[in-house]
Amino acid sequence: MQIVDTIAGLRAARQGLKGQVGVVLTMGALHMGHLTLVREARDENDAVLTTIFVNPTQFGANEDLSKYPRDLPRDLAMLEKTGVDLVFTPTSEMMYPKGFQTWVDVTEVSQGLEGQHRPGHFKGVGTVVAKLFNLTQPDIAYFGQKDAQQVSVIKRMAHDLNFPLEVAVCPTVRETDGLAMSSRNVYLLAEQRTAAGVLFRSLQAAVGIYAAGERNPERLRQAALRTLHDEPLAQAEYVSAADAATLEELNAISIDPILLSMAVRIGQVRLIDNVLLPLELNNRRDLTRVLGG
Ligand code: PAJ
Repeated sequence: MQIVDTIAGLRAARQGLKGQVGVVLTMGALHMGHLTLVREARDENDAVLTTIFVNPTQFGANEDLSKYPRDLPRDLAMLEKTGVDLVFTPTSEMMYPKGFQTWVDVTEVSQGLEGQHRPGHFKGVGTVVAKLFNLTQPDIAYFGQKDAQQVSVIKRMAHDLNFPLEVAVCPTVRETDGLAMSSRNVYLLAEQRTAAGVLFRSLQAAVGIYAAGERNPERLRQAALRTLHDEPLAQAEYVSAADAATLEELNAISIDPILLSMAVRIGQVRLIDNVLLPLELNNRRDLTRVLGG
């Protein structure tokens, strides 16, 4: 596995990758969710390129940039074991040199949900992903369902800016109690970690009534919220039932597929999760087709 930490080094090493190249963009602190994307990329391509970069421009002023977990040696060992060919680990100074002033803003699909609660977040994501696409030149770029709105933003951006690549989406990887794996889970204290299982349980509550025929989006949201309210350590930021293609909030009898999503605070830790309804759509092929239209 080759590791490069300069833009010139990346360009040279990228030229050396032959055939179809799969790319996985990450902020490090890797877990099985990231590694599942890497495996999928390895199985579907001739070579795999992974980036590790904690992108400062996607963090809000009051967010966790300075304490975001970082462990490069451990991340590199995990990537090597999983079969990555090339890793790019740039610094903030390389990605945002003095005088930087060009931004990629996906104006509509970035507005609701996470965009509403994290102003500027998707402008940072759009910009860094556009830069990393230009640098790494993927044939296929792999993203996780856990960040469903991120998928919609990136799909839109790749299409609007004519990036010659395919965006692939892999299902959310979960712990045994259903908690979606996340680099931020390490912040949870033992009692909070137990409480965090409520996100998955609340999604399941909505899935349950949906399976029994409920199609009223407000009742789907209420079913999830009731379960969240039962957990005293959990504070719901939002629960959404949205059109999975446009991410517009549904308020009438809905048309499938629906993206049911939420952000919940457990103490200081902000967690997100989602499920696509109907449940059968939560697989690599359908997620890739349905999310973001
Ligand atoms: P990061 O949070 O490190 O996630 C990197 C990729 O792993 C994303 O596509 C994310 O959706 C996916 N991922 C995270 N947890 C997952 C899980 N439990 N199951 C499946 N996939 C999961 O997302 C980012 O970094 C950044 O915004 C980035 C795209 C790198 C731009 O800075």
